[in-house]
Amino acid sequence: MNLERRDLIFGAAAGGLARAQTDERVSTAVIGTGNRGAYLLSGVLEQPNAKVAAVCDIKPDRLDRAASAAAKDNPATYSDWRKVIERKDINAVFIATPPNLHAEMAIAALKAGKHVYCEKPIGATAAQVRDLVKAARAAKSIFVPGQQLRSLKQLGEAIRKIREGAIGDVLWVKAQRHATADLPHDGTSGDWYFDVSKSGGYLIEQSVHNLDICNWVIGAHPLRACGFGGIQFYRNQPPGRTIYDCGSITYEYPNGVQMSFTQMVFHPRTLPAGGQYIYVYGSKGAVDLFPAAMLHPLDRGGQPSLLAEKREEPRHAHIIAFYDAVTKGSPLPADLTIGAAAALTAILGHEAMVKESVVKWSDLGVEL
Ligand SMILES: NC(=O)c1ccc[n+]([C@@H]2O[C@H](COP(=O)([O-])OP(=O)(O)OC[C@H]3O[C@@H](n4cnc5c(N)ncnc54)[C@H](O)[C@@H]3O)[C@@H](O)[C@H]2O)c1
Repeated sequence: MNLERRDLIFGAAAGGLARAQTDERVSTAVIGTGNRGAYLLSGVLEQPNAKVAAVCDIKPDRLDRAASAAAKDNPATYSDWRKVIERKDINAVFIATPPNLHAEMAIAALKAGKHVYCEKPIGATAAQVRDLVKAARAAKSIFVPGQQLRSLKQLGEAIRKIREGAIGDVLWVKAQRHATADLPHDGTSGDWYFDVSKSGGYLIEQSVHNLDICNWVIGAHPLRACGFGGIQFYRNQPPGRTIYDCGSITYEYPNGVQMSFTQMVFHPRTLPAGGQYIYVYGSKGAVDLFPAAMLHPLDRGGQPSLLAEKREEPRHAHIIAFYDAVTKGSPLPADLTIGAAAALTAILGHEAMVKESVVKWSDLGVEL
């Protein structure tokens, strides 16, 4: 396959990996059946070319709930994920455990020849991402990161038009992810989310989606970052908290393009400019990219217009595309490099905040 390296990194995810051509349903396991795992499981159950052979979780109530949800396929239940990987009849594994466990589980699954759909972030540290990249490159099976925004048609169309020059050269990006509150401290993810060694922190665990879109629209990964973060509002809440509740990071990309990103979790509901947005500024205008896709020309008198029409977005488009890739060799909805670049962009910003200094992409020690 003769693809430019750049296409492999940031273009529509290319194939290139060996694919299992089969007429039978893909025997699938879901590891981690909490919030996201239950959602993924519901998506897998809707696929005519998949069957749920196993579900796995260390929490018995979640495991029971998953087994009931998948009762039509009569899956085996496991509390030990390694037993799932040992099963030779399982061809595909969905991983939806806390971020610090993703790389180890995905590497084991890939080494056992299984196709992997791994939730974001694909790793919580640069070392985890590096090891996973190495294993996935050596594997003959498919690896898809759970960056499901890559499967949104309207967003993809808007980004394609920007990359083709709809606003001239992309010069600058301003993006944010502001929430009105923390995740519930006594909620279902409370036992790992507030521990930076397990989740990676707000930037790595949540903003990885937003940062991925920024990389996509800029057409590159950042070269360096600097920033500050801290715990300003939820001090020692919940007790022992180690993740920041706010931060501001500036990323520098090739050609001097800058991306300014803020994240925080105490934006009052009624205060304007909350939520998530990505403004992409170019030499001819700017686009309010997400979720609106509105183009605002720089010319005096220019009127805003819709850059990409709203499209029907299938609820499980990313999962459908995963199975199409496994069974028909269709293009991946997002590939290893996209998932790794997204995770590393978040890790770069996190390290810049923690070190309070400029951190370079090359310092991360992962070649993409
Ligand atoms: N793509 C998205 O939009 C999206 C949305 C939400 C969450 N996520 C990601 O999904 C992952 C899980 O998040 P969540 O909200 O479902 O959290 P959660 O706490 O609800 O679920 C995680 C599950 O993993 C289980 N688990 C922990 N260690 C395990 C182990 N060793 N073996 C088997 N199971 C284990 C837990 O018991 C829990 O049920 C995170 O990486 C998160 O970032 C992605």
